[in-house]
Amino acid sequence: MEHTDKLKALGLFDARVPRYTSYPTAAVFSPQTGAAFQARALAALDPAVPVSVYLHIPFCERLCWFCACHTQGTRTLGPVDAYIGTLETELALLRRTLPAGIRMGRLHWGGGTPTILPPHLIHRLAKAVRGVFTPDDAFEFSVEIDPTMVDRAKIDALAAEGMTRASIGIQDFDPEVQAAIGREQPFEVTRACVEDLRAAGITSLNTDLVYGLPHQTQARIADTIAKVQSFAPDRVALFGYAHVPWVSKRQKLIPEEALPGDLDRYRLATLAAEMFTEGGLVPIGIDHFARPGDELEVAARTGRLRRNFQGYTADSCQTLVGIGASSISRFPGGYVQNAPATAAYIQRIEAGGLAGARGHEMAGEDALRARAIELLMCDFRLDLADLRAEFGAPAMALAPLLPQIAARFGDLVTLEGECIAILPEGRSLTRIVASVFDDHVPDGVRYSRAS
Ligand SMILES: C[S@@+](CC[C@H](N)C(=O)[O-])C[C@H]1O[C@@H](n2cnc3c(N)ncnc32)[C@H](O)[C@@H]1O
Ligand code: SF4
Repeated sequence: MEHTDKLKALGLFDARVPRYTSYPTAAVFSPQTGAAFQARALAALDPAVPVSVYLHIPFCERLCWFCACHTQGTRTLGPVDAYIGTLETELALLRRTLPAGIRMGRLHWGGGTPTILPPHLIHRLAKAVRGVFTPDDAFEFSVEIDPTMVDRAKIDALAAEGMTRASIGIQDFDPEVQAAIGREQPFEVTRACVEDLRAAGITSLNTDLVYGLPHQTQARIADTIAKVQSFAPDRVALFGYAHVPWVSKRQKLIPEEALPGDLDRYRLATLAAEMFTEGGLVPIGIDHFARPGDELEVAARTGRLRRNFQGYTADSCQTLVGIGASSISRFPGGYVQNAPATAAYIQRIEAGGLAGARGHEMAGEDALRARAIELLMCDFRLDLADLRAEFGAPAMALAPLLPQIAARFGDLVTLEGECIAILPEGRSLTRIVASVFDDHVPDGVRYSRAS
């Protein structure tokens, strides 16, 4: 049997499984875990341990058709300005709820498009965040940047506020692919953005690419990658296009007949991975690459890689405080998501309460299974001895699953003693293997494809 036939038989092209940026996934969150849980969890934080902070800006000037992020279009700054006011109110509420003296080790501004903010709003927002969370000594501040929606003044404002890493959205440089995903982004504009970032002293650069887009071919993705390599990024995220028009209505504008077929999509991912690896980047987890010596590469090499809502991270912090519409907070005891729709979020904050609308309180084997899934997604191996060291004897509840995985995935995995490992040729199935540990399969939810 051809290798791809074997992968296909194991579900590569048909399985619909989560990306496991959390476990349980947001699809199983319930309204029973909301603002009251959020308030208790925030108040119980230990001020001696720095937290990570995620802040969401749900606005874009253009709405790319392929995009599945929580965002809305706006042509004027009015709603954005008003939203910054709501964020300030939420931050004031957090300040009243959190123990005094809380510090942040990491801050990430995501979206949507954080760089829709003009310099004066960047400064206003950064000041409001610092008023609640004091930056720790080794503070890191990363920002998602749309190269077509940024200029030198915005970059300088972000740099002045301490931005250490810029994450730029690229997806694909080919004009026909860009037209089919409703996202025009000339290479020259992107290059000018990278030059501005370097000139402003930003030393860490991540680029986001997507494979599996309409009209994408091997030659086109190879050309995109060569252009990306000319920027010498420290990190690359190479996401498989998640076509979920039943969730993200604007994806109905994507010409489905122009999407690459299963095998072509697989070959696009394989070619991209080969090119990045030959270019000197190290593959990290299922969809990232990093320069040797980059914090992510060091974390992966030393078994300290973690997974959070942004994907892979070297951030070991247990607590992530989410701010803004749709943001998810992670606490040792569970998750809570702010109201996803911007209007509903604003309403909750203006009514004087926290914005947590749905979540999940960890119970039973949740934390154990979450760690098992994270280890597989990060390290492609799971040693029950490691889980026992962390969770004690209850870790053995997962022991029967290891021979089941070995029997199902055959020579794509190894089982030695109580350690299961996914071999390089089976790694495209990692999400499917991880799903064996998932005990929360929700009714009626359709995830994106596994490959
Ligand atoms: C908030 S966006 C990027 C920031 C900025 N707004 C921009 O467009 O440059 C985050 C990233 O998610 C990825 N993404 C969005 N929708 C996706 C989808 N349907 N499938 C796979 N990746 C997707 C894209 O790579 C995108 O750059
Ligand atoms: S890719 Fe970026 S700019 Fe485009 S819609 Fe998504 S968040 Fe907005």
